[in-house]
Amino acid sequence: PKMIYLTRHGQSEYNLTQKIGGDSSLTAHGEEYATALAAWVHKNILVDNPRARLWTSTLKRTIETGKHIRHDEIMLDGQPWIVMRPREWHALDEIHAGIFDGMTYAEIEAADPEEFAMRKKDKLGYRYPRGESYLDVFQRLDTIIHELERQRDHVLIIAHQGILRILLGYLMWNEVKDREECPHISIPLNTIKCLKPHAYGCTCDSLCLLK
Ligand code: G3H
Repeated sequence: PKMIYLTRHGQSEYNLTQKIGGDSSLTAHGEEYATALAAWVHKNILVDNPRARLWTSTLKRTIETGKHIRHDEIMLDGQPWIVMRPREWHALDEIHAGIFDGMTYAEIEAADPEEFAMRKKDKLGYRYPRGESYLDVFQRLDTIIHELERQRDHVLIIAHQGILRILLGYLMWNEVKDREECPHISIPLNTIKCLKPHAYGCTCDSLCLLK
């Protein structure tokens, strides 16, 4: 692709109550980000690149974040073209916390201090009981990386912090030298990471669209 734009969903109900996982909707603040994102995307991407792609996960919070990005049909080379018809990928769903899905970190620590300590010790390799590890996420993102490599236009990905950490670390191999670093990369809400691929990895600009 020419450019890869990565962003998290806007603030969700679970973000607000500090629960992990789940499939909650956006809060009013999250909605505000969805609106700000659409305005930015129209102005900075779609104007000159009507063929740009929008990919989300299958979870409500990412779909809702992309929903104001216009879907109207335009004519391109005499053919009707649905602008930015979103594509939903299971491979972009958040890291699965297994039996701890829907809990806060404090609740997990209280319920099972041993598991909590194990994850702290090895965040990359630790697999949630009946869930996933970051290494598992690396594997399922293979599909996304392959598909990204095939794209000739810009791609905007609306996903989740756990997922974007791995994608960003993978794409920025010029800067992120060790996989161990990936689970600790911070991807704040309300921010777009603009990645420009070059022969050796990518350069990255961060843009905060909303406080
Ligand atoms: O918001 C939660 C993240 O997506 C995953 O967080 O892997 O740092 O626990 P964590």
